[in-house]
Amino acid sequence: MPDAFAIGRLNHVALVVDDLSAATATWRDTLGATVSEPQALPEHGVTVVFVDLPNTRIELLAPLGDGSPVSRFLEKHRVGGMHHVCVEVEDIRSARDHLIERGARVLGDGEPKTGAHGNPVLFLHPADLHGTLLELEETGTRVGHGSGEH
Ligand code: CO
Repeated sequence: MPDAFAIGRLNHVALVVDDLSAATATWRDTLGATVSEPQALPEHGVTVVFVDLPNTRIELLAPLGDGSPVSRFLEKHRVGGMHHVCVEVEDIRSARDHLIERGARVLGDGEPKTGAHGNPVLFLHPADLHGTLLELEETGTRVGHGSGEH
């Protein structure tokens, strides 16, 4: 089988919120979703709550500490909004190289970092994706095969 790149499943949509406990209550009590406890991720400058939906996951992000990347987002979008979409890839380094060859830019130093689920992640520049910040996550799931776990 040729080593062709294929984009995989939607892993999560990340939403920045200005009040994490209020947003968690909305998703839990109004929308009836299963929500996690807040999880502090100091290396990413966020506190995250995972909202499980039957086919994917929403991540609620709130700023943690000084210089959080989501603080800048909240300056522009006072009540919050969609921050990024995350899709799964089988091999994050080959995905990165494939996309860079086609003109996409990777944020940071180009090396995968450990994301909220303990998997390697990278972000692609929103200007190359028509305004949307796209996260790639290597889940170890073969793209197009089986369901894997969330
Ligand atoms: Co994410």
